[in-house]
Amino acid sequence: MMQNEIWWLPIKRKVVSLPKKTELLRNKLKSFSVILSPMEAVTNQPFRKICKKYGADVLITEFVSSDALLQEVEASKKKLLFDPECERPIGIQIFGNNEQSLVAATEIAAGYEPDFIDINWGCPVKKIAGKGCGSGIMNDVPKMIRLTEAVVKHSPLPVSVKTRLGYDESNKPIVYVAEALQDVGVEAISIHGRTRSQMYKGLADWSLIGEVKANPRMHIPVFGNGDIDSAEKVVEYKERYGVDGILIGRAAMGNPFIFLHSQQALKGEPQSVISVGERVDVCLQHLEALRQWRGERAALLEMRKFYSGYFYGMSNFKPYRIRLVIATSYDEIYEILENVRQNFHL
Ligand SMILES: Cc1cc2nc3c(=O)[nH]c(=O)nc-3n(C[C@H](O)[C@H](O)[C@H](O)COP(=O)(O)O)c2cc1C
Repeated sequence: MMQNEIWWLPIKRKVVSLPKKTELLRNKLKSFSVILSPMEAVTNQPFRKICKKYGADVLITEFVSSDALLQEVEASKKKLLFDPECERPIGIQIFGNNEQSLVAATEIAAGYEPDFIDINWGCPVKKIAGKGCGSGIMNDVPKMIRLTEAVVKHSPLPVSVKTRLGYDESNKPIVYVAEALQDVGVEAISIHGRTRSQMYKGLADWSLIGEVKANPRMHIPVFGNGDIDSAEKVVEYKERYGVDGILIGRAAMGNPFIFLHSQQALKGEPQSVISVGERVDVCLQHLEALRQWRGERAALLEMRKFYSGYFYGMSNFKPYRIRLVIATSYDEIYEILENVRQNFHL
């Protein structure tokens, strides 16, 4: 079968009658949700808690390999942990390419009692998508629907899906796919407005996300994702595309304040200025929480990708950033950040 043929069109979808679990997830959501988009090695527990504190309505873990969960890989099991006191509603995101491991991983993840299970049908990275996981499955939509249906059937919790528009420019079946996912019992869908072959290139195309939402057959929440980098854009895209929520990924790295600003903008309130002192405090809290979570060395390395975000827009910050990324101890970072607190004003 030709890869680019519109081969999914003739499929006769049967509307399966599933045990009625629907609306369980919607009941936990606001009418419009600002969501922290899942990001590997970013949206772990320390950073999620900070984003929640600043107003993220929904959290999703980094993706977890279903095969690794079955093999009881400790690092993967750790990704399932969350703080039930302050991280709800939260979804655990899993990825895989076969029914047996996806279903078993769902059961394992559900044992940690998140609010929902999210299936990653969106990752474009070769080592994942090349094996038919993530958005690699958009080459075989019937399999995507079949595997999702199996997860829904076995999950005691609501199931959502995060995916992309399609496989490539000539194959963007998302309007059909969203309906088919809904028909097998998925309770919410997040759509990143790019194809697998686009990876992160070009601009996210939100028009098809808008089409999914405007489809009169759709009744589950539809969340949009891609290139949202300001509170103003959250408001603009909510209004323009009518989505039920927006996921923010890269723009939240080192900028959890985007959630506060988005909530303020959605209410028509002025956006708070985040002082240098507050940025230093949050950055230090993040570092300290990561140190406890992953150990000092891993924390120092992981924090490197956040400094630009925490101190974005501060002129002459570059020499400090360089010192931060080459620092080799927590004490050194602490000292540099205290210098930042003293020397910079907004
Ligand atoms: C470093 C990084 C890691 C990511 N890891 C995941 C992941 O684990 N699961 C997932 O569904 N998407 C992952 N994504 C994709 C993001 O969730 C999001 O869909 C994408 O970055 C587009 O949104 P943005 O423009 O707001 O960043 C990742 C993206 C980045 C940059």
